[in-house]
Amino acid sequence: MSDKDPIRAALDECRPLFMAAFWFGLFINALMLAVPIYSMQVLDRVLSSGSLDTLLMLTIIVGVSLLFMGLLQGLRALVFSHIGRWLNDKLSSDIVHKTLNLALYKPSIGSQPLRDLATIRGFVTSPALGSLFDAPWAIIYFIVIFMINLWLGLTVVLGAVLMLALALVTEKLPAKHSSLANDEQIKSMQAMDAVIRNAEVVKAMGLLEQASRRWRVHNRQWLEHAFSATNLQTVVSHATRTLRMGLQVLLTGQGAWLVISGGMSSGGIIAVSILSGKALAPFDAAVTIYQTWINTQKAYKRLQELNPASTEANRTMVLPEPRGEIAIEKLTFQDKQSSRWIVRGVNIRIEAGEAVGIIGPSGTGKTTLARLLVGVAQPTSGSVRLDGAALDQWDPDQLGRLIGYLPQGVELFSGTVAENIARLEAEADPQMIVAAAQMAEVHDYILQLPNGYQTDIGLNGALLSAGQKQRVALARCFFGGVRLVVLDEPNAHLDAEGELAFVKCIMNAKERGITTITIAHRPSVLQKVDKILVLQGGEAKMFGPAVEVLDKMTRPEQNVRPIRKHQDTELEANSVN
Ligand SMILES: Nc1ncnc2c1ncn2[C@@H]1O[C@H](COP(=O)(O)OP(=O)(O)OP(=O)(O)O)[C@@H](O)[C@H]1O
Ligand SMILES: [Mg+2]
Repeated sequence: MSDKDPIRAALDECRPLFMAAFWFGLFINALMLAVPIYSMQVLDRVLSSGSLDTLLMLTIIVGVSLLFMGLLQGLRALVFSHIGRWLNDKLSSDIVHKTLNLALYKPSIGSQPLRDLATIRGFVTSPALGSLFDAPWAIIYFIVIFMINLWLGLTVVLGAVLMLALALVTEKLPAKHSSLANDEQIKSMQAMDAVIRNAEVVKAMGLLEQASRRWRVHNRQWLEHAFSATNLQTVVSHATRTLRMGLQVLLTGQGAWLVISGGMSSGGIIAVSILSGKALAPFDAAVTIYQTWINTQKAYKRLQELNPASTEANRTMVLPEPRGEIAIEKLTFQDKQSSRWIVRGVNIRIEAGEAVGIIGPSGTGKTTLARLLVGVAQPTSGSVRLDGAALDQWDPDQLGRLIGYLPQGVELFSGTVAENIARLEAEADPQMIVAAAQMAEVHDYILQLPNGYQTDIGLNGALLSAGQKQRVALARCFFGGVRLVVLDEPNAHLDAEGELAFVKCIMNAKERGITTITIAHRPSVLQKVDKILVLQGGEAKMFGPAVEVLDKMTRPEQNVRPIRKHQDTELEANSVN
C-alpha cells in the first residue's frame, strides 16, 4: 500500500470487483427487459390469439428472467457490502494511527476521520452506487424504445435532455447548501465536544451561555443550510416528478395516436411506458446521488489530507535493545503558527542510567523539550538520539515500549489500576505490574486503594484523586523493559511523603540503569539526580552536576551565565565554576 494515498490504493485493489459489478449491470438491465417485452407480447399476441399456452410459456420465461435478475442484484449488493467491510478493515487502523498523530497538533480533529471513513463505506454500500452502475446501461432501454418506434424514441430522448437540464440547473443549489450544512455540522459537533471536555469549569463558573456560543452559531448555520437544502431538494424533486409524469402522459398519448394511425401495435404503448421509466430513472436519481457523492468526496479529501500529518518515517526498523544513552543535538522547535522559537539549540548528552533534572521558569519550553524527547513533538531541526539512532529511526512500537512518559497533565485510561500500569496489555504478567509499582515506590500506596491493583479508576481516572492518578501514571512509566523515563512535574500533586517516595524512585531507576529525566519546579525532588539542566527562554543556560548547578542557582550574582548558541553546553556548564 502506497503511503501517499492508502485510500486510493485500497480502492484500486477493489477495481476488479467494481468491474465485475459493472458487468453485472449489463445482465441485470438486459434481464429487466423481460417485463416490457412480456407486457407487449401479452397484449399483442395472447389477447389477439387467445392462446393460453403462449401466455403460460411467456409467464414462465419472464418468471425465470426475474429470478436471475433478483439473484444478480442481490449478488451485486453483497459485493458492495463486502467491499465496504473490506475498506473498513483495511483502512481503519491506519486512519486511527494517523488521527492520533494529527491529534498531537490539532486536538479538535476528534474522531472525524473515522466518521469520514464511515461516509465512504456508507456510499459504497448504499443503493446509490447500484444506480450509478446501472446508469450506463440505460442505453439499452433507449435502443429498445427506438426499435419499437422512432418517434417515441425521440420523445424519450427529449425528455432525458430536459430532465438532465433541470438537474444541471438545480442540483448545484441544494448541493451547495447540503455541503455547507455538512461542514457546519462537523464544526458544531467539535464545538460541543470542547464544551463537554470542560464540563466542570462550565458548570462551576456558570459558563454554559458563553461556552456554548460557538456551538450555537454553527448549529444554527447547520440547521439553516440543511433547511434550505431540504426545501430546494423538495422543489427540485417535485419539478422532476412533474416533468416525468408529463412525459408519461405525452408518451401514452403519442403512442395511442401512433396505434390509431397504424404505426405501432397497442402492446407498444405499455412496453414504452415501462421502458421509458427505466431509461429515465438515472436522470431522476441524479440529484440525490450528486449530493451524496459531494459529501463522500469531501470525506475522501479530508482523509487524504491526513497523510502529510503522518510523521513516522517509512524506514523505521527494530534495533538492538538500547542502553539508554541520550544525545540531544542542536535541538530546536519552532511553533509553526507564531514562528516563535520555543526550544533553541539545546545540545547535551545524557549517559545511560543517568538521572537528569530540568528546571526553569514557567513557559520556558520544558514540557516542549520533554515532548521532543519522547517523540511526541517533531524537532524543527536537530535531533534526539537514543543509543545513536534518531527517534524517528526506531520502530514506533519498540520505541514506545522503551519509553516511560509522565505528561504534565496526567491522563489515564478507563479500567483498573493494574490495566493502566500494564499499559493496557491484555495478558500482562502481574509480577511485572507489581515490579513497576515497586520501582515507582507506589506499591504500598496502591495496596491501600479500595481494591488494590484491581481498583476501577473510572472514566479517565475520574474516581482517583489527582495525587493517586499521578502515582498510577508514574508506575506506568516503569512497566516492562523501559530504558528512558521522562517525567514532567511528577510531584505536582504529591504530598511530602509522596515526594520522598519519588526521590527513592529516582534512585531505584538509577540502580536499574534506567535513564530518567525529571522536570520539576521544586528542587526538593531533584536531590538525587546526577545532573541538572537549566532551561531559560528555550535555551540550555546551564548543564552540569546537580550540586554545582544548584549551588550556582542559589548565588544570584552568578545565577545564569549565558552560553553561546549551538555550543556544547555541557562543556560550557562544567567549565563554569
Ligand atoms: N504545541 C505547541 N504549539 C505552539 N506553542 C506551544 C506548544 N507547546 C507549547 N507552546 C508554547 O511554548 C512555550 C513553552 O511551553 P512549555 O509548555 O514547554 O513550557 P514549560 O516550561 O513546560 O512551562 P511550565 O513550567 O508552566 O509547565 C509556551 O509559551 C507555550 O505557549
Ligand atoms: Mg510544562
